[in-house]
Amino acid sequence: MLSYLKDSLYFMQRILTIETPKKVGEKVKLAGWIQTRRNHGKLVFLDFRDRAGIVQIVFKSSKEVEPVRPEWVVEIEGEVKERPENMRNPELSTGSVEIAASKLTVLSQAKTLPFDIEKDGYDISEEKRLQYRYLDLRRPRMQRNLKMRNLSLQYMRETLLKEGFTEVETPVISKSTPEGARDYLIPSRLYPGKFYALPQSPQQYKQLLQVAGVERYFQIVRCFRDEDPRADRQPEFTQLDIEMSFADQEEILQLLERLYTGLIRELFPEKKIQENPFPRLSYKEVMEKYQSDKPDLRKDKNNPDELAFAFVVDFPMFEWKEQEKRWDAVHHPFTRPQTEDIEEIRKHPERILAFQYDLVLNGYEIAGGSLRTYRPDMLQAVFETMGNETKDVKEKFGHLLEAFEYGVPPHGGIASGVDRLFAILLNEPNIREVIPFPKTGDAQDLMMNSPSEVSPEQLKELHLEVTKKKLKKK
Ligand code: AMO
Repeated sequence: MLSYLKDSLYFMQRILTIETPKKVGEKVKLAGWIQTRRNHGKLVFLDFRDRAGIVQIVFKSSKEVEPVRPEWVVEIEGEVKERPENMRNPELSTGSVEIAASKLTVLSQAKTLPFDIEKDGYDISEEKRLQYRYLDLRRPRMQRNLKMRNLSLQYMRETLLKEGFTEVETPVISKSTPEGARDYLIPSRLYPGKFYALPQSPQQYKQLLQVAGVERYFQIVRCFRDEDPRADRQPEFTQLDIEMSFADQEEILQLLERLYTGLIRELFPEKKIQENPFPRLSYKEVMEKYQSDKPDLRKDKNNPDELAFAFVVDFPMFEWKEQEKRWDAVHHPFTRPQTEDIEEIRKHPERILAFQYDLVLNGYEIAGGSLRTYRPDMLQAVFETMGNETKDVKEKFGHLLEAFEYGVPPHGGIASGVDRLFAILLNEPNIREVIPFPKTGDAQDLMMNSPSEVSPEQLKELHLEVTKKKLKKK
């Protein structure tokens, strides 16, 4: 098997379809998939596909190519020929040539696919598409989405590196912390009855990294929230997460503005940013004017290339929780109030604004962040206002509070939901179209068949018992 692969694929020069127009008159070898096949009398035409594109292959006799069907994987040897002027296909980058085949090797056969992969596929049941995601990803639209996602993330990485940021990886096996959504828990085998949690975001780690002296942190990072999926929400999603020491609010907003303007100019030049610099609108203003904290500010909503970015700033620090009869932080307790006056926080929490901001784009919240409180007396006042017991605060945030006793720089940050950004930039109706392997609307992975039951041995090792009567058969 190995020697066969060595001979056929690696040691003999395989070229890509896109290189064929430069090789007229030469003998070449290609490897890839059969897209379509057309018989014209004795002649057989194949549209042949590899990662770079499509080229036409011609067989003079149908004998050799008789059994070959779409999506079979083949290797082809032949001569590159210029097509006559009237036979050229201007829609293909290889449309000026074709390969006169002299040899065909079948590398693997394929069953008939469960659905068409040449068109955009919006009309196919999404459950089927996700069950066979590895086939769905073959369609040109999905290949483009994968490529543009990759290039965009690469652009972000390179730009931030140039601006003096360091990408730091933070743990995925972490601790349950309150970030607003439900945690995904991981039972511990070594510590019966105890749990790790998957991070809803690296919030605390990135703040700890400021104490560690990483003045400019970023990470392209997976976050996990056990929420019901929606068009713009997945249980597992990706953030471009940023934290900066010694930065004020404007510095952070301008960084994101610069980054996204550059990204769009480089990779999505057909898009038009409606207003640049992005407008800064106060929370009060947008709520009064649009009754939404993520207004769609596009002047022409029919134009798919219009991008209306805006920063929503000056969120209230606290909101009253009627059910619990207490004040709660709108973002999180570490968000810095826009006052240095601790008495004012204690007396008039309803008046306090926060250094908190969102970035909205065409009606979606694509980023959120804040400057952080690092003064212990201020934090104390905020926790008291929220009615937190000192014991609870110690338990949940003790490590952060302790870290702040060792020389903490003023800091703040922002995290951007890049799936949402890419869905908008790629004109997709939901974020599942830009995530390689997303979950369905009801949080299942139909391809891997997950969530799934585990063996009694695994449960026992984890000191867990599943109550039978609560098990729902799916
Ligand atoms: P926040 O919770 O606002 O902030 O999240 C930041 C951004 O992440 C995106 N987002 C999601 N995208 C897809 N699916 C989801 N379930 C989902 N949840 C959130 C949104 C959102 O704006 N640690 C703070 C950031 C900070 O303060 O620096 C945080 O995570 O686009």
